[in-house]
Amino acid sequence: MSTRTLQPRRVGTSLGKRWDRWLNGLLQRAARPESLSRVARLPLGGFFARRQARALFDLVSGFTATQTVLACVRLRVFERLLAEAQTARSLAPGLGLTEEGCQLLLDAATALGLLRRRWTGRYGPTPLALAIVGLPGVREMIEHNTLLYDDLRDPVARLQGQPGPALAAFWPYAGDGEEAPEAPAAEAYSALMASSQGMIASEVLSAYDFSKHRRVMDVGGGNGAFLAALADAVPGPRLVLCDLPAVARLAEARFRARPDAQRFAVHPVDFLKTPLPADADLITLVRVLHDQDDERAERLLTRVAKALAPGAQLLVAEPLRHTAGAQRFSDVYFSLYLRAMGWGRPRSEGEVRTLLEAAGFRKVRRLPTAVPLQTSVLLAERPA
Ligand SMILES: C[S@@+](CC[C@H](N)C(=O)[O-])C[C@H]1O[C@@H](n2cnc3c(N)ncnc32)[C@H](O)[C@@H]1O
Repeated sequence: MSTRTLQPRRVGTSLGKRWDRWLNGLLQRAARPESLSRVARLPLGGFFARRQARALFDLVSGFTATQTVLACVRLRVFERLLAEAQTARSLAPGLGLTEEGCQLLLDAATALGLLRRRWTGRYGPTPLALAIVGLPGVREMIEHNTLLYDDLRDPVARLQGQPGPALAAFWPYAGDGEEAPEAPAAEAYSALMASSQGMIASEVLSAYDFSKHRRVMDVGGGNGAFLAALADAVPGPRLVLCDLPAVARLAEARFRARPDAQRFAVHPVDFLKTPLPADADLITLVRVLHDQDDERAERLLTRVAKALAPGAQLLVAEPLRHTAGAQRFSDVYFSLYLRAMGWGRPRSEGEVRTLLEAAGFRKVRRLPTAVPLQTSVLLAERPA
């Protein structure tokens, strides 16, 4: 997939204004009820109108699809049908549903392409459902999204800048940043992050060769899932993790249990308040920068730059706004997610570049990743 970033094109002011006015006039005429029904009666117009109606219906009915998936996950429908194809009658008692309720759920999941009714009359999962069965991180994210959707009941309030209560409570380090997370909250969000880290780590590890480094420091490294994947894939570099104390303890426990525990070191730090340990020749920020507003991101990057010797490097991995082919994730889901969380900012490649350069980094370049929907990777150098 391409890693191109889509940037809005600029046009000359007066030509641009005339163009916009002309186009809006056209659209205003087309939006009249009589124009819409006239177009729908034309043979080609009818085809176009039906396609538009389907696309619009998909947008406004999205939540019912989401909730169908959630019901299937909570009732372990895909796992049960993978173990044994069944009818609604045989499946219903195990789900605690009436046969009618179960049939409704099977029909809905079939309409969404997650199940198929076989010629035998029994239902089985389609390939689309297999990732839900096989990847626990996907199921955890589906369940976690219930917090997001609670907060998005009032999307306008979120866009006006009021954080949603559910996600703000789930991510206690967001908000005013004065509150260090307690152990249970740190465990909950670190476990969620770790469950999707496998996919992120494999993207980052294929995008960049870590073997040339002596000491890699993962700042905001969570419970250590990324560094553990790095250690498994790349022999050589010493690995250092920095995170808030309640999270750093989790990483320590993970590393201590490994046979190569001596490769790791953990520093409990608040990266907005304390200087970072020096001596790494590569610092990684994996899904960390987007949690910070511009002022905090600048503070963090300045500390990162101070911790690096001239010529050392910084790798930033996170989803970027306006990435071609990934806008439904980056410009819709993730942007609203951060808004509901009440802190942070999804940024385009250009915006991250500007932040990096303001903190003194040079030679910023984007490394291609196979699935930019999951993450993009930017590499920068601390100048000599
Ligand atoms: C979204 S998580 C990403 C975790 C990990 N890098 C990953 O990709 O799975 C952000 C991490 O930054 C840490 N963090 C947030 N604010 C911090 C601060 N002020 N000082 C140190 N760590 C912080 C959080 O505890 C959390 O582990």
